[in-house]
Amino acid sequence: MKLLIASRNAHKIQEIREIFDLPEVEWVSLEAFADLAEVVEDGATFEANAVKKASELARATGLWALADDSGLEVTALRNAPGVYSARYAGEPCDHARNNAKLLRELAGQADRSARFRCVAALSDPTGRTQTVSGCCEGRITEQPRGVDGFGYDPLFIPAGFDATFAEMGSGQKNRLSHRGKAMMLAKETWGRLLAAAPDAFG
Ligand code: IMP
Repeated sequence: MKLLIASRNAHKIQEIREIFDLPEVEWVSLEAFADLAEVVEDGATFEANAVKKASELARATGLWALADDSGLEVTALRNAPGVYSARYAGEPCDHARNNAKLLRELAGQADRSARFRCVAALSDPTGRTQTVSGCCEGRITEQPRGVDGFGYDPLFIPAGFDATFAEMGSGQKNRLSHRGKAMMLAKETWGRLLAAAPDAFG
């Protein structure tokens, strides 16, 4: 069956495909629907944004659609940037500026605890949607470290490790990350259903 990944972020798409690893599924990226209107991510929560993206795109394309919404919550910043993670330093999304702003906001701050969260939403072509979520606790570095991954990866050290996500290979990041956990749960929850190529949620 065809499954639309509701993202244009090549890094994220690659991570999701690697984790899901379902041979029965033909992945279709949003790039195949260049003229589709962008879904406005105006929800107050990761869940609201993921559900909106998956259901609007499924209805617009007639395909099953998998969307995720994710971001970084920093305890000392009262869980900012949260749903604003991509545009923390303004539009358009600029990872280097976001990282520089985060380090500025945390200058002199002793509590550097933070977590990445991810909500994955699967929608059938009628717009009926289910969600699963994943979380990865960790802390924010004093300086960017590493060149792999994307976004806040050079600033985030997962709990129990000394390396940032940007200093790890994608395999190790996927085993630990919020998106890895959400997608593993997504695969457990929906893998058999998707392999059976249904018309809609039963
Ligand atoms: P989304 O594409 O709307 O889910 O926005 C997610 C934003 O949160 C990204 O642009 C990054 O700033 C941040 N983010 C989410 N997941 C990750 C990750 O795995 N590594 C680094 N930054 C992430």
